[in-house]
Amino acid sequence: MEITVIHGQVHKGSTYHISSSLLKKLADEDTVVHEYFLPKDGPDFCVGCFNCIYQGENKCLGAVSVQEIVKSMCLSQAIIIDSPTYCFEMSGQLKTLFDHMGYMWMSHRPRREMFDKIGIAVTTASGAGTKNITKSIARQLFWWGVPKTYRLGINVSASSWKEVPEKIKRKIELKTGALASEVKGHIGKVKPGFKTKFLFNVMRKMHLSNTWNMLDKQHWSDNKWLESERPWR
Ligand SMILES: Cc1cc2nc3c(=O)[nH]c(=O)nc-3n(C[C@H](O)[C@H](O)[C@H](O)COP(=O)(O)O)c2cc1C
Repeated sequence: MEITVIHGQVHKGSTYHISSSLLKKLADEDTVVHEYFLPKDGPDFCVGCFNCIYQGENKCLGAVSVQEIVKSMCLSQAIIIDSPTYCFEMSGQLKTLFDHMGYMWMSHRPRREMFDKIGIAVTTASGAGTKNITKSIARQLFWWGVPKTYRLGINVSASSWKEVPEKIKRKIELKTGALASEVKGHIGKVKPGFKTKFLFNVMRKMHLSNTWNMLDKQHWSDNKWLESERPWR
């Protein structure tokens, strides 16, 4: 099994520790882990050049780091994405990476490989706002075609891992244990549900009459999605 972990921060605080606890429980000695820390391993801000959308993802100014991450995600069965809660939002550096992946939304050029993956959205907050962040991360995964995303948001009542009360740390161990068992039971078995299939078909109809972006249309045509092929079994 391969797992990609994208940390929406560089420091190893509460969010990192929770993702790592989950990763430890998911991985065995044969697991290949691709781990990225943002912004260190990610692209600079999106400058809105539209190169990725109209000319190809390799024309993006941040293509080297973005494509390295995309390649790892395509190889992985599970993708963990985390961020601390900052002012009820994800970290700016994680949002920056997501902006660079807009070209692979279902409305443009989704990757076939995404349609059987499990996503896991992780966040921590001192006291409030986790739902917004896990929902936002899950939304990105959904638009890439990932059929199943779990959400783990934990209020840690602290600004650093050191200060997290023991009672909450025990709760975290239980939650990551239960989530890891759930994910393990579904690896390689997930299939897109109605919502993904419906959206895919709406996008397919749009690309049948697409006269505005030939790169996107070619992608749908090359994958034979404008015919009867679908990215799921
Ligand atoms: C800039 C900033 C904004 C924050 N905004 C919130 C917030 O909206 N809600 C909240 O409960 N905690 C907020 N916090 C606290 C962190 O989300 C919380 O301490 C989190 O567990 C930190 O994770 P980390 O240890 O991985 O950095 C904020 C912290 C910072 C630095």
